[in-house]
Amino acid sequence: MMYRVFTAALLAASSVSALTISSTCQAALTGVATNSDANACLSASSLLSVVLQSNASIITPVDNWLKSLCSAAPCSNATLSAVVTNITTGCSAELSSSPDSSASTLIPLVEQYYTTARKIVCLADSGTNCITQTLTNIQSILGTLSISNIGDVITKAATTTSLPTNITCTDCLKQAYNVLNTDFPSTASSLTSELDSECGASFTDGTTPADIKSTTSDNGKNSAMTLTRGTFVGSVLVVASSLWAFLA
Ligand SMILES: *[C@@H]1O[C@H](CO)[C@@H](O)[C@H](O)[C@H]1NC(C)=O
Ligand SMILES: *[C@@H]1O[C@H](CO)[C@@H](O)[C@H](O)[C@H]1NC(C)=O
Ligand SMILES: *[C@@H]1O[C@H](CO)[C@@H](O)[C@H](O)[C@H]1NC(C)=O
Ligand SMILES: *[C@@H]1O[C@H](CO)[C@@H](O)[C@H](O)[C@H]1NC(C)=O
Repeated sequence: MMYRVFTAALLAASSVSALTISSTCQAALTGVATNSDANACLSASSLLSVVLQSNASIITPVDNWLKSLCSAAPCSNATLSAVVTNITTGCSAELSSSPDSSASTLIPLVEQYYTTARKIVCLADSGTNCITQTLTNIQSILGTLSISNIGDVITKAATTTSLPTNITCTDCLKQAYNVLNTDFPSTASSLTSELDSECGASFTDGTTPADIKSTTSDNGKNSAMTLTRGTFVGSVLVVASSLWAFLA
């Protein structure tokens, strides 16, 4: 299941990376990266080295970015709303293939998901960020995750039928499921049987693996919401690969 999500994310990434990013979109992204409120909570400017070193793996810059993001205070809804407004306006050409990409649709979704997404991307296993660990595992199978290598990685992903369970059933992804199940139980419950059959019933028993810790200081509970299935599935992978796509 995780693998299908990853492949879908890669395919989405390839359709984005096939476009040349328009100058208005570049201006919007630069504006977000240089806006002090947005940069204080998203640390987007720390990702610049990904773009500058296209042959290098994205893992180290992404790891550094996550460290700043997770130690910073979270974004306010006003900042999230301004970021979404600027990107949907400036990048309307790039987003036009998505059915629901208007600011009025996306702002409430981003505001609802943000806290949970942040909790998930700020999990760490024995001190290693869980996104970093998962990307490192995937890189060992699919080859260097660099901007210049995106085509090869997509080709390999498309011809690899499944990832081994020591990559898909890790303590990190177990805790990502637990966080999702706490914040969005109805979404999580729709995944339970598939995860149980892939990873064994203990994957969804709700216990926190002993080696997993949060690296944010703000773990306030989010209210339960009903989301469509799939929206949050594999967010761990999707966040990283869409980021990668955006910068490619
Ligand atoms: C949004 O765009 C406005 C106008 O260009 C700019 O002043 C503002 O800093 C931007 N805000 C964010 C969060 O990107
Ligand atoms: C990336 O690698 C290719 C092929 O090895 C090389 O031609 C190119 O100059 C490299 N680019 C950078 C930015 O190092
Ligand atoms: C932001 O908006 C979401 C969705 O409306 C809401 O659940 C959340 O409490 C808001 N956060 C803050 C800090 O106001
Ligand atoms: C997963 O298992 C394979 C085969 O046993 C091994 O070579 C690989 O290093 C393992 N990967 C991880 C991340 O543990």
